[in-house]
Amino acid sequence: MHIKKNQLYFGKFSAPYLGKKFGTPLYVYEVSTIKRQYKKLVSSIAYRKLSVHYACKANTNISILKLLRRLGAKVETVSRGEIILALKAGFKPKDILYTSTSVSRDEIAFVARRKVMVNLDSLSQIKLYGEINPGSDVGIRINQGIGAGHHDHVITGGSNSKFGIPLEHMEFAQKLAKKYRLRIIRLHQHIGSNILDKKILLRAFDKLLETALNFKDLESLDFGGGFGIPYLPKEKELDVKGLGKTMVRKMKRFNKLYGKELAMILEPGRFLVAEAGVLLASVTEIKNNPVHTFVGVDTGFNHFVRPAMYGSFHRIINASKIKGISIKAHIVGNICESGDIFGKDRVITSPKAGDILAILDTGAYGYVMASRYNSRPLPLEVLVDK
Ligand code: LLP
Repeated sequence: MHIKKNQLYFGKFSAPYLGKKFGTPLYVYEVSTIKRQYKKLVSSIAYRKLSVHYACKANTNISILKLLRRLGAKVETVSRGEIILALKAGFKPKDILYTSTSVSRDEIAFVARRKVMVNLDSLSQIKLYGEINPGSDVGIRINQGIGAGHHDHVITGGSNSKFGIPLEHMEFAQKLAKKYRLRIIRLHQHIGSNILDKKILLRAFDKLLETALNFKDLESLDFGGGFGIPYLPKEKELDVKGLGKTMVRKMKRFNKLYGKELAMILEPGRFLVAEAGVLLASVTEIKNNPVHTFVGVDTGFNHFVRPAMYGSFHRIINASKIKGISIKAHIVGNICESGDIFGKDRVITSPKAGDILAILDTGAYGYVMASRYNSRPLPLEVLVDK
C-alpha cells in the first residue's frame, strides 16, 4: 500500500479504480504485507522446531489461506467450517490444529474423523473425545490465570474467561485422559488478543514451561496467538525480535531440563493479516447539525464491527484525496443504529460524495465478522499481488 498522485494505491491499482471496478464496500488485501509479516515473525524466532499455525479466524479468505500455506504456515481452526476451508486451501490434516469451546459431540466426531490435531478445552471435552477416539494423541488447553488483551471481550486467560482447564484441575485432567488412553502430547494456552507488551506474553510463556514439567509425554508446547499490531499512530510495535530471542533462549533451557527437544507452536492471527487489509467505502453524504459534521459511507458495522463492538480505533483516510484541506467529522455508516460510527472527530481531507474512504488495518477480524444485518449484502474481497 502506498501513496501516489495524492491517492491510495495497492500495487498499480488506485483505491478509486478498485472501488469503481468492483464496487464498494470492498475489502482489499495486499499479498506483500502478509509476506512481510510472516517473514518478520519467523525470522525473529530462530527455533528449529517452530510451527506457525495461522489462526484463520482472523481471515478465512481462501486465497489468503493458500498464500500462507505456500509461505510455510500451518493453520489453527475453531470450527468444522474452518477445517473444511483449510482442507480446501490445501492444508494437510496433520497441519491443521483445532481448538474450540462449547462444541457438540457431532463436531468433535468430525474432528476425530478428519484426523486433525486437537487441543481439548475442558474436562468434558476430554471425556467426549476419549469416548469417540480412545487411544489417540491429544493436546489440552490450559488456563493458567494469566490474561491480557485490548478489550475484556478478548481476554481468554483468568477466572472470568470460559476457556481452558484451570491449573487446579491438571491432575484430574491427566487421570481422565489416562482412562481413555489419551496421550497428552501438547499443552496449549492463549491468553488474549492484540497484546503489544512482550512482558505479559513472556510471563505466560514462563508459566507454561513451568506447568509442562508435570507432563511426561509432551512433544510440543503451543503458546497461542495474541501478537498485537499498532492501530493508533502513537502505539509502539510489538518487539517480536526481542520476544523471539527470549523465547528461544528459554525454550532451549527448558528442553535440557525436560530431556527432549519439544516443538514450539505459535498461533498468530491478527499479526499476519490485519495490516494487509483495508475496507474501502464510498462517501454517500455529508450532513451537519449545530454540533457535528457527519460523513456517511455506504457500509456500516454490519461489514466491519470492531469499532462498534470493542470501541476499537482504526485510522480512516480519504483514499481519493490524501492531502488537502481537511475537516473534522464523525465517520458514520448506513446501518439504522446510532452506534454505527467508524470514528469520532476524525480529521479527514475534505470529503465529497463519491470519494473513497479507506478504513485501515481491517485485514483481521473484518470480513470474517461481517453480517447481513439490515439485509445488506456482504462486500466483495480482492487480493492484490504487486
Ligand atoms: N489462538 C486461539 C486459541 C485464539 O482464540 C485466537 C483468537 C488466536 C489464536 C489468534 O489471536 P490473534 O493472534 O489474532 O490475537 N475479534 C477480536 C479478536 C478475537 C480473537 C479470538 N481468538 C478482535 O477483533 O479484536
